[in-house]
Amino acid sequence: MRLHEQTVAVVGGGSGIGRAIATQAGAAGADVIVSSRNMANLDKTTAEIGAGIAIPVDMTQPDAVAAWVDALPELDHLVISASSAAHGPFSDLPEDSLRHMFDAKFFGPYAVAKAALSKIRRGGSITLFSGVLSRRPGMNCSGLAAVNGAVEALTRGLALELGPDFRVNCLSPGMVRSDAYAAMEPEAKETMYEATGESLPVARVGTVEEIAEAAIFLITNTYTTGVVLDVDGGHMIRQYAHR
Ligand SMILES: NC(=O)c1ccc[n+]([C@@H]2O[C@H](COP(=O)([O-])OP(=O)(O)OC[C@H]3O[C@@H](n4cnc5c(N)ncnc54)[C@H](OP(=O)(O)O)[C@@H]3O)[C@@H](O)[C@H]2O)c1
Repeated sequence: MRLHEQTVAVVGGGSGIGRAIATQAGAAGADVIVSSRNMANLDKTTAEIGAGIAIPVDMTQPDAVAAWVDALPELDHLVISASSAAHGPFSDLPEDSLRHMFDAKFFGPYAVAKAALSKIRRGGSITLFSGVLSRRPGMNCSGLAAVNGAVEALTRGLALELGPDFRVNCLSPGMVRSDAYAAMEPEAKETMYEATGESLPVARVGTVEEIAEAAIFLITNTYTTGVVLDVDGGHMIRQYAHR
């Protein structure tokens, strides 16, 4: 019960990696708060944990963030896994899609972390999310690579600025089977998982539970700050196919 008598808020806790983090934090004894936009998904998470509070928020809406922080109790740890991603070739991806992605994956987490700071107890932590594309971009992912890089840079700057009161880290997943790909056609999704998995040293894509384990490490390890932790099945060292 490593998180006994501690409160963990997970923004993005309504699905995927965030739901797995909320579940593991609850199992480790934490009081859990889950947030994202869709209340039905948040209710599913609290039902899965068998406890927890759902406080909805749209990170991109300043009024919603202000109302969310007002409703928030005191916290020990804030995890922000919420994001949205857009893919497309440089020449085709509309700039508005890129701006929307920066709103959802950079400015949203930035605003949420800033607003919640007054509610986080000294000694607490903030965990942000980037992704493997920041340093090993794939084709047609330059925008997503850029936003992930911005989150990683923010992490290092905040860790310096907010220490010693708070630790700030970033978790960078490789590809994992998650709700993030729910909109894909099932066969195409399976082909993507298999093709990516084959290219990795571990020969498979990951699970949301494996990423959540790493998040619990970042939350609980009191000597870890300013770190970008890659949990990617060896994606950083994978052999890319020649063009
Ligand atoms: N899955 C992967 O393979 C992978 C790989 C690399 C990096 N990552 C990163 O890991 C993190 C978690 O990914 P995941 O797989 O758990 O994705 P996911 O299942 O799609 O979860 C994203 C969550 O963000 C919430 N969200 C989106 N926009 C929001 C907003 N404006 N305000 C509040 N909540 C919002 C969504 O809920 P609502 O729609 O209800 O708001 C959803 O619960 C993300 O940063 C992602 O980029 C994932």
